Amino acid sequence: MPRIKYCAGNWKLNKSPAETKKFIAELRALKPKAKCEVIIFPPAYNLPALNEAISESLMPISFGPQNIYFKNDGAFTGEISPSVAKEMGSQYALIGHSERRLIFSETDDLCAKKVKAALDTGLTPVFCIGEILEERESNQTNSIIERQLRKGLALVTEDIINFFDKKIIIAYEPVWAIGTGRVATPEQAEEAHKFVRQMLSEIFNSKIAERTSILYGGSVKPDNSSGLINQPNIDGFLIGGASLKPADFAALLEGTY
Ligand code: PGA
Repeated sequence: MPRIKYCAGNWKLNKSPAETKKFIAELRALKPKAKCEVIIFPPAYNLPALNEAISESLMPISFGPQNIYFKNDGAFTGEISPSVAKEMGSQYALIGHSERRLIFSETDDLCAKKVKAALDTGLTPVFCIGEILEERESNQTNSIIERQLRKGLALVTEDIINFFDKKIIIAYEPVWAIGTGRVATPEQAEEAHKFVRQMLSEIFNSKIAERTSILYGGSVKPDNSSGLINQPNIDGFLIGGASLKPADFAALLEGTY
């Protein structure tokens, strides 16, 4: 069975509720023929505006927060409740983005709890991994990927994703390619994605590894996406900058199949 392809927009700390509605209206006017599943990760306070705009537009777009906490409620000032995100219509949650890891000091162990919390709440985690430039230049890419996957997925059992119709999505995002305009070559990305799949096979089993979608992220634009999406182990994209512009996002949706 072919794997599901995805285009996920990571808006980071961009757009207000009004701008969110404007974006969806502009995207709808472009009538993109998406060949993939479409997800938007807005700032959490925009989830209601996005939900409303998507419902009105009738476009098949899913969404979710860019981060969650691993508890649903309590004395955790500033955090985002997975169950409330779900109540607001979310189906996905971005977890372990490199900006969360590097700017907000999220550890592998914290990511593991968040991945588990997402699955427990009925949100599909889009779990981000990737090496920084120094790690790539010192040939540590695979060992970093292996550590992030083994630790980040440590609380997910085969049973959870085998028997309960739950899944995880992996986003490989080399940190040196994020927001830099320096995209990984299709060969570099494919090599890493192949290794991710091999790791998933070791951590879980080959069936889960084969059906898990692995997205590439890092300076994806309409003009560099086709070489990447043609690689056998690249199942779509996590898109930052280009997901903020309706025309670019529409072009990426149409090109991902
Ligand atoms: P970028 O961001 O496409 O702007 O490089 C990707 C991401 O951070 O998810």
